[in-house]
Amino acid sequence: MKHNNLKAMGMEKGQLYETIISSMSTNGRKNAAPIGVLCKSEEEVVVYLYQGSHTHKNISNSDYFVVNLTTNPLLLTECTLGDFPADYFYEFKGNPVLKENDAFFISRVIKKKELVHKNELGSSPMTVVTAKVEEIVKNKKVIRPLNRGIYAVIESLIHFSRLEIGDAKNRENLYHKIKEMDRVVRRVGSASEKKALQEIMDAIHEKYNNLDEKK
Ligand SMILES: Cc1cc2nc3c(=O)[nH]c(=O)nc-3n(C[C@H](O)[C@H](O)[C@H](O)COP(=O)(O)O)c2cc1C
Repeated sequence: MKHNNLKAMGMEKGQLYETIISSMSTNGRKNAAPIGVLCKSEEEVVVYLYQGSHTHKNISNSDYFVVNLTTNPLLLTECTLGDFPADYFYEFKGNPVLKENDAFFISRVIKKKELVHKNELGSSPMTVVTAKVEEIVKNKKVIRPLNRGIYAVIESLIHFSRLEIGDAKNRENLYHKIKEMDRVVRRVGSASEKKALQEIMDAIHEKYNNLDEKK
């Protein structure tokens, strides 16, 4: 029986997960890159692709891509730092899949939209791709899709626990780091992770009332 419900992999509607997308060029070259995948519903995902990458080009020229889930830090790092050789992949029903993954799913593009994304780094043209989940393959019983929210909460708590150590300059640095974690959680965290960061920020503001003035 074919599975295509993202819940089977612990992916929740509205949450963004860090994955490795594999795709194929028109001349058959397989590519992999870390890409955030937004779970739009139980059977649909959305990816925001910066223009200029191989992934963007491949998905622009094909109706299919593969989302590989992994928690292997080296796999994530190596595909960020360079290109995987062809023997890192195999073909599943004509789609390029990473040989090492905890789970993967085949996604079929159903909508593409161009937009300009503006942030502190400037404006970048992006393509927003909506895709339907066609088939899920689980290679592990328990899948842990990566979302940055919980890591941001843990980092914030560690910074928080160090606020009392050192001088005012140290406190400012730690507060700056916690504010960055707060930004991450607001963008990609769950409701409880957002609440956790809010509680941390409230506790800081209660204890130290002049941190924002110094920035
Ligand atoms: C954890 C992580 C998440 C990323 N998410 C995205 C994303 O959602 N969209 C995007 O266009 N690039 C994203 N990137 C950047 C691409 O992976 C990067 O541009 C990569 O070089 C593209 O490789 P390619 O040219 O082989 O496709 C992400 C990078 C990392 C490390």
